[in-house]
Amino acid sequence: MPQTGTSAPLAEKGAAAFAGGGFGGISQTSLETNAVPFKLVATVLVMNEQLRDPTAPADLATLQRVMRRFGFLYPERVDGAPVGMRLPIAEKPLGMTHGFIAPIGGARVEVANLGCAACHAGVAYAADGNPQPGRVVLGMPNTSLDLESYTQAIFTALRRHANDPALLAMADTLFPEMSWQERASLRWIVLPLARGRLETLAGAARALPFPNGLPGATNGVAALKFQMGTPLMGGGPGDRGYVSIPDLGLRHHRSRLLVDGAYATPSGQADAHELAVITSFFTVPSMGVTPEMARRHIPEAEAIFAWLTDYRPQAYPGPIDQAAAEQGAALYARGCASCHGSFDWNAGVPRLATYPDWIGDVGTAQLRALAVDSALAEAIGKSAYGRAISVANGQGYAAPPLAGVWASAPYLHNGSVPSLAALLDPSLRPARFMVGGHALDWQTMGLRLTPEGRYPSDYTPFSEPQWIDTAQPGLGNGGHVYGSELTAQERQALIAFLKLL
Ligand code: HEC
Ligand code: HEC
Repeated sequence: MPQTGTSAPLAEKGAAAFAGGGFGGISQTSLETNAVPFKLVATVLVMNEQLRDPTAPADLATLQRVMRRFGFLYPERVDGAPVGMRLPIAEKPLGMTHGFIAPIGGARVEVANLGCAACHAGVAYAADGNPQPGRVVLGMPNTSLDLESYTQAIFTALRRHANDPALLAMADTLFPEMSWQERASLRWIVLPLARGRLETLAGAARALPFPNGLPGATNGVAALKFQMGTPLMGGGPGDRGYVSIPDLGLRHHRSRLLVDGAYATPSGQADAHELAVITSFFTVPSMGVTPEMARRHIPEAEAIFAWLTDYRPQAYPGPIDQAAAEQGAALYARGCASCHGSFDWNAGVPRLATYPDWIGDVGTAQLRALAVDSALAEAIGKSAYGRAISVANGQGYAAPPLAGVWASAPYLHNGSVPSLAALLDPSLRPARFMVGGHALDWQTMGLRLTPEGRYPSDYTPFSEPQWIDTAQPGLGNGGHVYGSELTAQERQALIAFLKLL
């Protein structure tokens, strides 16, 4: 975790925990599910890359190139970071937490896991809508992170290279500083365990029992069921409640978290302490820690909420038509504010005035809401969080605060709609489109796409895109037709206002 002085303000400690806190995820328990033995995984990923591209050198730059394809970021600048934070080092991307464990006395194994910033730090955009992967903002969503491709690549690479006689020599080449204890641990502990696990998985198409998301969307509910030992939908493959990673602005106004509002505070109020306690529980699915371990990190989560209270996403960098935005503000107040909250706005930065915490069925894809089922609710109730989270499932979806909405395409909880223009006019919603490493289009306010849903031929994405097929289970793009009653000109005005949030 980035160091902060003991007298640093709470918010700065929060930013540090958010940027690099391990939350108990650097442990042998986490290795069973979420964490990876870093040097082994790095080595097989590089070896695998050399199969694909024989000219790829055996160095950390090659590892970085592979990791960037999954949407991991290696920024030169991190906005919102604590004072004096060191930037990610060449071997690990922003938000990848790491440390050493000793599974038996004298052993030494480097373990890596994902911290908050792996998902909740996103690229900044330039005035023309092009992404700036070298500049990242803590709290904005990483709309390119593809954990499905990442986990599958690790699985495939381990399968190909775990028995390769050149493996340890390659690890030495990549990590010349590796101590003899660590090398011996890799050889006598980690590799035999990995081979044993691969044997159990012989013939399996995947390492995880559930699908692990799409660029910018993860499968937290399935991951949580896996941790809590409750049944997965359709035995696992059917548990596809993907959720787009949200911008974290204005979230402290909510009294219940998650897209379906399933985790309510016990008091029913938007209480920062209660929300922080709930947030500490998110480390169970995202980092593979036990609920008991998650509770130990409530102080860090409280510091994170202190930081989040003042967090602002990057201000919209494109040109704003002030007259249109003014008209849009009135349209928003009339048609949207009753669910998404009202804003005070005097041609500056709109300030949230009231937030109704609305929840209900707006006709959007149901699978994610159904995924939080009664078995999972019961398991949470019986866990160490039984009194801290009041689980209320089956209510539909919550209307999110729209902070930073300009940068968070694709839209809706499942990322099924590529732009605000298509959200507000359902006749424009494409059946298929690409996502990941994308640029933004200021006109439609969303992904910059051709009419076929591809990237323009002159655009090179900074990570590997995937297709979103809205005919797939859980990815339906129907519902939420608010705005369709407006004229095309009014919709443009509304979008101009939304850019300011
Ligand atoms: C693997 C990616 C990932 C990691 C790691 C992660 N999150 Fe999230 N986070 C998400 C996604 C996706 C959601 C939305 C989940 C949903 O609603 O079902 C979310 C939701 C949230 C929310 C609730 C937003 C709301 O209004 O419902 C907060 C707060 C939050 N995360 C904070 C954190 C913090 C703090 C950490 C680190 C301790 C963290 N997250 C780690 C992906 C991640
Ligand atoms: C009756 C309540 C309601 C009204 C009215 C409403 N919304 Fe929503 N809105 C929701 C809900 C609920 C969701 C989440 C649905 C989902 O993700 O499946 C949502 C989602 C959104 C999203 C996607 C946010 C994201 O991060 O992906 C945007 C943008 C949005 N609404 C804008 C608007 C605008 C603009 C209007 C007015 C024209 C409006 N909404 C009117 C309830 C409402």
